Amino acid sequence: MKASILSSTPATKQVEMLSYLVYEGEKLLHNPSQEMLKRSDFTGADGQILTVDNLDGYDVVVFAGLGKKKNVSELKMQNAVASVVRFATSKNLSTLAVVIPEELSPELKGSSCMVGARLGAYQFLKYKTDEKTKKFKKIEQISFVVSKGAEDFKKGLEFGIVLASGVALARDLVNDPASHTNTQTLVDTANLIASNSENISVTVLDEEQCKKLGMGSYLSVARGSIVPPKFIVLHYSPKGRSTSGRKKIALVGKSIMFDSGGLSLKPSESMEDMKIDMSGGATVLGVFKILSELSSNPDFAKATAGKEIFGILPSCENMPSGHATRPGDIVTAMNGKTIEVLNTDAEGRLTLADGLVYAEKHCKADVIIDLATLTGACMVALGNDLAGLFSNDDELSQSFEKEAKETGDEFWKMPLHLPYLKKMKSDIADLKNIGGGRYGGAITAAVFLSEFVEKAKWIHIDIAGPAFRTEAPKGALGKGATGWGVLSIYQFLISNY
Ligand code: BES
Ligand code: MN
Ligand code: ZN
Repeated sequence: MKASILSSTPATKQVEMLSYLVYEGEKLLHNPSQEMLKRSDFTGADGQILTVDNLDGYDVVVFAGLGKKKNVSELKMQNAVASVVRFATSKNLSTLAVVIPEELSPELKGSSCMVGARLGAYQFLKYKTDEKTKKFKKIEQISFVVSKGAEDFKKGLEFGIVLASGVALARDLVNDPASHTNTQTLVDTANLIASNSENISVTVLDEEQCKKLGMGSYLSVARGSIVPPKFIVLHYSPKGRSTSGRKKIALVGKSIMFDSGGLSLKPSESMEDMKIDMSGGATVLGVFKILSELSSNPDFAKATAGKEIFGILPSCENMPSGHATRPGDIVTAMNGKTIEVLNTDAEGRLTLADGLVYAEKHCKADVIIDLATLTGACMVALGNDLAGLFSNDDELSQSFEKEAKETGDEFWKMPLHLPYLKKMKSDIADLKNIGGGRYGGAITAAVFLSEFVEKAKWIHIDIAGPAFRTEAPKGALGKGATGWGVLSIYQFLISNY
């Protein structure tokens, strides 16, 4: 998709589709279609779309609502542009122009519009063999009609391309099934990202090395599969600056390539989507892709100068076999705690346990954010749109909340209710990996994880709901993988937290 900037609406023959982003209750300037708009039930409400064929000489004109002008935000523009582009894609159009309102800063707006355009156009077509499907459903040219601040808007567009590419990478990795992506794919992706930037290095620990480090909890999940476990560590450390006194932030992503449940086998329906169980790791890689592409950007370098960022992906596959961990087995995590594995389907917390300990012990992380498709219970609690966020530090979680606001990554704060730890005590080991009973499952999982965080400020985000979308598209979110967290984590990393 090529993007360009125009200072006025294009001639009718130049584009197949023209679209306007419209405020609720405001008149459209310079538009002969005012009368027609009045007669439709289109009000300009946030998320509304009106399409009209053969208007003002254009083949198709699309009006996308932004809601009230006083409440406008970059996110609303991002979603409106995404809806417009998704519509154009569904109609097999290849050129369109979008008239951008004057409000908001041109650079931020440019970035959001490009993120919206790219993500609205996102499709996963790798396995479609029909040439027609592949060829036609790509927008070739999008023009943004911008009346002022074109230079800054353009700078924003370039930023937006980078941000969207991080989200798209995460989506691709999640949409691709376990037959085509395994732990080695994650290793290759991490290495490719690192080869792009002198500030990023990758370390991969194999089964032997993990065993030496005492990661009995993580390895117990990998045992049943023929796919070799790979404990992947990415490290972003800006070159040529003093490394003393830097804040160390670790991102830990649940990376189960496929979750069959293990010997506590899932019923077939619950297993259908379990290729998504590496969404947390995919998000971490998406963030690192952005870090690599912005490595030489001066604004970005300034924002991250005082930080070191780690990405930790304890990747493996959860399968049943004669080698698999049995319900009732006891495993020992890297911090020495013993865990009775009563349900092999509660595997995410077992891999994250060693990931969290590694973050603090080996990376010396002061701040840890983990992302995990951890519990069905979190989906029961919050539905599909919202992630559940748990934290041991209010200041940290408030900062994250502030930075996530304009990114489209929606979540709800959940209680890290430590008294529930008593549900996770085993009769014969330190902990057991399920709480017994169905209630509060997202919380008991979070509380279990807290046993593997010592001093670090920590956020745990359960993305089981929003990582993958089966409902109708909404703004920049289409069907399938969403890349939840790439944009909010990036935003948090460049903040002054
Ligand atoms: N990966 C699943 C959680 C999940 C479910 C993610 C649906 C996305 C969609 C996780 O490993 C799991 O199986 N959790 C169990 C925990 C239970 C055994 C305590 C669950 O939620 O049922
Ligand atoms: Mn599971
Ligand atoms: Zn899982």
